[in-house]
Amino acid sequence: MIKILTIIGARPQIIKAAALSRAIRESFSDRIQEVLLHTGQHYDQNMSEVFFKQLGIPQPDYNLNVGSGAHGRQTATMINGIEEVLIKEKPDYLIVYGDTNSTLAGAIAASKLHIPIVHVEAGLRSFNKYMPEEINRIMCDHVSTMLFSPTLSGIHNLEREGFKMNNASPYTIDNPGVFHSGDVMYDNSLYFASLSDKQSNIISELDLQGKPFILATIHRDNNTDQPERLNGIFDALYQVSARKDITIVLPLHPRTAKLLKQNLDPVLYANVKHHSKIRLMSPVSFLDMIALEKNATMVMTDSGGVQKEAFYFGKPCIIIRSETEWVEIVEQGAGIICDASTARIMAAAFHFMEGANPSFPNIFGDGKAAWFICEQLLMNISR
Ligand code: UD1
Ligand code: UDP
Repeated sequence: MIKILTIIGARPQIIKAAALSRAIRESFSDRIQEVLLHTGQHYDQNMSEVFFKQLGIPQPDYNLNVGSGAHGRQTATMINGIEEVLIKEKPDYLIVYGDTNSTLAGAIAASKLHIPIVHVEAGLRSFNKYMPEEINRIMCDHVSTMLFSPTLSGIHNLEREGFKMNNASPYTIDNPGVFHSGDVMYDNSLYFASLSDKQSNIISELDLQGKPFILATIHRDNNTDQPERLNGIFDALYQVSARKDITIVLPLHPRTAKLLKQNLDPVLYANVKHHSKIRLMSPVSFLDMIALEKNATMVMTDSGGVQKEAFYFGKPCIIIRSETEWVEIVEQGAGIICDASTARIMAAAFHFMEGANPSFPNIFGDGKAAWFICEQLLMNISR
């Protein structure tokens, strides 16, 4: 039996962890014991708790309840708490997902204790070090022992940074193993899509059956915190909705909900808030999110995960950032990078609504990435 300790903290990590937890429960429970540590980076019911029951994730064994705060303080508090748990639990591997402050904290704590780090979603790069996530993922990759990349571009990024693709096991922090695993989020979307069909009522609740609508999410700090960017984005949403007479559904991250009031021009804020076709709402559950993604005409987002889910469900995506880690989506013509430019967002929306025909080939694996990861953990364990 090997013991893994999984760090979760932010919404997308809770969702990603569901895939590995499910693989362990269904196929590896006699060989892998998972201990779950929630840093508490996200804590609202609809940013954390809602996912556990719906996605069948076990309740965390530890919750550090770190909450929100400045990057240094938040990350340092996490490192402190994670270190204590690692010393107590002595896991064979630490599993971290993605690129949040919870990922970085786990990587720093485990590397100093010589606990092998497994980075799921390794190798992704935006090549923009002003993003806190870019710093987190680079630092985490470079102290990891096993790196699982969802895409080939992730593998190439690691190669460019000096990772060797032919290292032999036993893997160590100085001799890491790099794997092209496919995407655990794709595993989840395939698995939960039929459950969403059965259990989610959001489309009828919003009276959107058979009607065109755009699903939009915004939460990146550079979009929410810079008034000119936030105004540029919401001006575009308002104009697209008004000109095309199309509903826009906007489940708002709590960060965005707070900053809309503060940073949006009061006239635009009133327009957006009172426009019958713009539906601002609290974050939705994962099954509801899948239903929205499956039924939307198109997606507008600055989220990493939502860009990919749009692609899995064959929906064009307007990327409200200046670059993306998911370059394959743009290469297929299924995503257009628009930054926070009102004109570019509107032009891309009209392009997709006026019959552009992007392709959505299968580039994110076979829906069994979590199984592949578990097998590699078992094959390469060295004690
Ligand atoms: C974090 C990640 C980001 C990821 C996102 C997923 C970092 C640096 N950023 O960004 O990569 O894409 O999660 O959603 O780790 N808040 C609440 N309730 C909550 C959580 C947050 O009100 O449950 C509010 C607080 O005002 C907080 C703000 O949102 O200050 C930002 O939260 P934080 O976790 O620091 O960053 P995110 O923007 O969520
Ligand atoms: N998500 C959700 N409800 C919402 C918004 C997003 O369940 O209201 C899911 C979404 O389907 C995806 C993940 O959260 O699986 C993406 O997380 P987020 O956008 O917060 O972070 P990112 O992927 O950008 O790090």
